[in-house]
Amino acid sequence: MKTAHQGMGVRTSHFNALVDVLQQSMDAKKIPFPVQNRMLALLAPMHRDIITK
Ligand code: HEM
Repeated sequence: MKTAHQGMGVRTSHFNALVDVLQQSMDAKKIPFPVQNRMLALLAPMHRDIITK
């Protein structure tokens, strides 16, 4: 995950924007909130490798 995003200058705001879009998509598909949260909880720890700015 680190090498895939290296040098892209991804900021916290970019990461949060991705989370927003994912939530909107999961809402649109009527995925229950607990399931949404489980998905987002899997992604959250990756921010350390992805956000470089
Ligand atoms: C937890 C959140 C994220 C996950 C799990 C994720 C996952 C991935 C994966 C698996 C790849 C493909 C790597 C490869 O095939 O070599 C990738 C590429 C990429 N990601 Fe992410 N990513 C995340 C967040 C972000 C964010 C926040 C941005 C910027 C807004 C971003 C921008 C990109 C770009 C531009 C590529 C390269 C696409 C390409 O060249 O085809 N990613 N990401």
